[in-house]
Amino acid sequence: MGTPPTSHSALEVPRTGPCRIPTVTTQRLILRSFTTDDLDAYAELTADEQTMRYLGEGGPLDRAGTWRVLAVILGHWHLRGYGIWAMADRATQRLIGRAGLYYPEGWPALEVVWSVARDRWGQGLATEAGQAALDYAFEQLSADHVISTIHPRNHASIRVAEKLGQTFEYGPTNLQGRERMVYGITRSTWLRSRP
Ligand SMILES: CC(C)(COP(=O)(O)OP(=O)(O)OC[C@H]1O[C@@H](n2cnc3c(N)ncnc32)[C@H](O)[C@@H]1OP(=O)(O)O)[C@@H](O)C(=O)NCCC(=O)NCCS
Repeated sequence: MGTPPTSHSALEVPRTGPCRIPTVTTQRLILRSFTTDDLDAYAELTADEQTMRYLGEGGPLDRAGTWRVLAVILGHWHLRGYGIWAMADRATQRLIGRAGLYYPEGWPALEVVWSVARDRWGQGLATEAGQAALDYAFEQLSADHVISTIHPRNHASIRVAEKLGQTFEYGPTNLQGRERMVYGITRSTWLRSRP
């Protein structure tokens, strides 16, 4: 098992009061705040066994479990000043996943995350959303380093990380009870990859 680097301090965005969650637009996607109106559509995505296989505890969620995930996502924005967006299709407004930044207590570093509805896999959407989230981390948060923690058998996600310029850092490692590989990109590598 690999050894995680010693502790990092979580990025905090100074603010007074609740965080106003920004919207980010890409070529095909709108990354926006989740709302309670997303519960049904998001519960449909989290009920899918294949989508959930390598996420969290590794299984589908029911509606109540999905609500708690939304509470964590929105709470993270207010505690940290950044977080995970709902991923909506720009053309149809349909909720087709989530992507963004995640840094809960005890995490090894700031993480960029992605998840896409199964009927939209293989269209480059995770890469498109992941790139927007990564750019946000480096441009808006002045991050020095952004990781992704990925189940060793999640080859599609490892490929997304590689397409975003992340490289293997260490692993498999035990991350709060879950076996994960850690990929990452530094600010200097991200800067070199800019057009
Ligand atoms: C992982 C996931 C986000 C990828 O989303 P996506 O929109 O299909 O990703 P992209 O289309 O941007 O890129 C996928 C890449 O993986 C490749 N890929 C797909 N399945 C693969 C596999 N089994 N082995 C190796 N590569 C694979 C694709 O060919 C593509 O690479 P390419 O552009 O070089 O051809 C999606 O499968 C998903 O939501 N899975 C469930 C949730 C999840 O696991 N999230 C990540 C947690 S770390």
